[in-house]
Amino acid sequence: MADTAVYLKDYQPFPYCVDQVELTFRLQPEATRVMARLHLHANPARPGVNDLRLDGEELRLLSVTIGGRAIAATPDARGLTIAAADLPEGPFVLETEVEIAPARNTALEGLYMSNGMYCTQCEAEGFRKITYYPDRPDVMARFRVRIEGDLPVLLSNGNPLGAGPGWAEWDDPWPKPAYLFALVAGHLIAHSDQITTRSGRQVALNIWVRPGDEDRCAWGMESLKRSMRWDEEVYGREYDLDVFNIVAVDDFNMGAMENKGLNIFNSKCVLATPETMTDDEFARIESIVAHEYFHNWTGNRITCRDWFQLCLKEGLTVFRDQQFSGDLRGHAVKRIEDVLALRARQFREDQGPLAHPVRPDSFVEINNFYTATVYEKGAEIIGMLKRLVGEDGYRRALDLYFDRHDGQAATIEDWLAVFQDATGRDLTQFSRWYFEAGTPRVQVAEDWQPDLAGGTFTLTLRQDNPPTPGQPDKGAKVIPVAVGLLNPNGDEVLGTTILELTEAEQSFRFEGLGARPVASVLRGFSAPVVLDHPVSPETRAFLLAHDTDPFNRWEAGRSLAKEVLAEMVVTGAAVSRPWLDGVARLATDDTLDPAFRALALRLPSEDDLAATLAAAGHVPDPAAIHAARRRMGDALAAALGAELAALRAAMTVSGPFSAEAGPAGRRALANACLALQTRLDGGEAARAAFAAATNMTDRLAALVALIDIGAGAEALAAFEAEWKADRLVMDKWFMVQVVHAPPAELAATVEQLTARADFNMDNPNRFRAVFGAVSANHAGFHHADGAAYRLLADWLLRLDGRNPQTAARMSTAFETWRRYDAGRQALIRAELSRMAATPGLSRDLSEMTARMLG
Ligand code: ARG
Ligand code: ZN
Repeated sequence: MADTAVYLKDYQPFPYCVDQVELTFRLQPEATRVMARLHLHANPARPGVNDLRLDGEELRLLSVTIGGRAIAATPDARGLTIAAADLPEGPFVLETEVEIAPARNTALEGLYMSNGMYCTQCEAEGFRKITYYPDRPDVMARFRVRIEGDLPVLLSNGNPLGAGPGWAEWDDPWPKPAYLFALVAGHLIAHSDQITTRSGRQVALNIWVRPGDEDRCAWGMESLKRSMRWDEEVYGREYDLDVFNIVAVDDFNMGAMENKGLNIFNSKCVLATPETMTDDEFARIESIVAHEYFHNWTGNRITCRDWFQLCLKEGLTVFRDQQFSGDLRGHAVKRIEDVLALRARQFREDQGPLAHPVRPDSFVEINNFYTATVYEKGAEIIGMLKRLVGEDGYRRALDLYFDRHDGQAATIEDWLAVFQDATGRDLTQFSRWYFEAGTPRVQVAEDWQPDLAGGTFTLTLRQDNPPTPGQPDKGAKVIPVAVGLLNPNGDEVLGTTILELTEAEQSFRFEGLGARPVASVLRGFSAPVVLDHPVSPETRAFLLAHDTDPFNRWEAGRSLAKEVLAEMVVTGAAVSRPWLDGVARLATDDTLDPAFRALALRLPSEDDLAATLAAAGHVPDPAAIHAARRRMGDALAAALGAELAALRAAMTVSGPFSAEAGPAGRRALANACLALQTRLDGGEAARAAFAAATNMTDRLAALVALIDIGAGAEALAAFEAEWKADRLVMDKWFMVQVVHAPPAELAATVEQLTARADFNMDNPNRFRAVFGAVSANHAGFHHADGAAYRLLADWLLRLDGRNPQTAARMSTAFETWRRYDAGRQALIRAELSRMAATPGLSRDLSEMTARMLG
């Protein structure tokens, strides 16, 4: 690797403090001028004689002055050093002027243009592409910004100071790191509202969009208001500026960004109408709006000392948005969805060559560490902490965190210290969760002694912490294992109890039970581990029917489905009766939440099954997995038969559209049934449903059901005719064709879609719609001819020259390569090596390929 790594152990405070920054922007697409005035003084935390090193990349430096005197300073490719000898004693003012070209910025980092509007993305290290600055999160300063440009709307962070034709000024009273800076300028319209915080502050709320999108903002605004209320009620956190702005932009590398007072969103993550977005997308928008808003306290008021601490803000903010969504939409279903996502993305990462600790100790390109591990496993760790210290302890620890660290750039050590100080609990061993990578495996063994102490049941738990890159040996972790016991009638004889596993192996005894109980282990998914609890299919079916913990009830069906599927793949067995009967009974049980029943009908993914087989020592065969999963779906359809139509009819939603959990759950169950029905009726019901649909959820579900049986052509054409002018909707049209292409046709489908005039590789949403979907089509991606591997590598290389961040992120499609057979491994290794050897490869993609090649 040509680029050098940065190490946590090398951290030192920056030798200078920035008290105040004044920025002036003179906007021009090809030549924007940025004038910066930095008010600096020596940092007492770093005594001695120190040069002043400013970060800066792709800037044309026009002048540097100190105290009004010109300085001769020659920048290098990554910044500018001003010798200590040139710096006065005491506070001083440094002024620079640079020129940048937002119109030519295809990396979408720094200041760039998207559909004629100017916008910024500075996290993690994009501010250095705007001006020379100590671009690190522990340098916090007050920003004052003047924007000059011939555009009606000119926005930055904080409160508006003044505006006139062609200019606007903004002042942010809260010191912040440069990564939270934002600027937006364009022909925008606001969807406006307002809220009064609980201490009486009036806050103007705006969602800024391009003309034509005004009617797509209502849901985002509703989500914002709910988030603001929730954070006041649950965490006691209030908003702290007079205005909160959200802007929707079409070209964006990630989901959204929490810039102080000026959140910038991928338009896909904020704009919604019933006709254009699905229920899942509505729910996702609600949670992302909340996530970005919650960052105002967990991220902005308290930020990270350095980028190794990223999980300090991201893990906590994900945890908070998950709590929020659970409160609004139901905790059982939310937990199942979160665990599905955790296993699909984080377990996959943690069990492959890209595994890294939630707090990494080195990186080459920080953008490569905005991962499922940092975000989702980071959130799981907080869930465990909360379980261990209880509701009250958690609340006290969080209050202390906000009290003690407001206005600071903090570390994971600071975070753990507030829990220790607030609850008295020693977290030394627990802290391993932050520093050690890998998914622990927990084995469960049961023992029953009917004659001992009135019937004694013993659970023996054993933990294994497998090696990961750079971490061969690991100690035992603190693992909270939530357990309940049921008697043979299905009544609970022991309510949910937390067993704390802290050693490699421990036994827990339960006495006086009379009859042998059925154990429900790891309730609510109380720790992010792989559970290995060998029980009979009958016991799983029993738990599927009776478990009082909704997560584990669902999990019983899921484990059973995986075991049955694995069996089908390996031995060619038929679909098992206990699973079919159990799932069918649950799906038709009217006493249960429809959303929960829909989840029970969902089959494990092919990727999940490949991982399961690999973990059990098999070499997964993607074609066999695909075939078995289809057989399983067919068998489920046959088992439910005529009930499918009845169930769908019973789930009809009447009245005006609502994206709330209730009606969305009914649609989810109806559409799960439609997919199965389509396996039986040749597409008759799906064609009717497609024609009759009045919202995108129903329309897309019908379309996918038809594509899945090879009968999608007509519906695809109709969909395209209706939506060809709508980028966000057309992304779905691209995506479903790739995800659901027959495996042997995947490469050809992709070639045909990328040849279209409306395939624009500079739009990350469109690129992801196609190439993110390539690896989501497991059997197609891993087709033995290797065509899809080659195609993806070709396009990643092409994208890398224009947008390295997105190219690197999407290269994770290859991270599971060592699971597969020698032939596929050779094909993928060849593609990874080809990418790695490409001259001029970005730092981003070269780090990723090197790590994957190991
Ligand atoms: N902080 C943002 C969020 O979690 C994500 C920004 C990530 N940006 C990046 N370049 N990796 O909401
Ligand atoms: Zn975040």
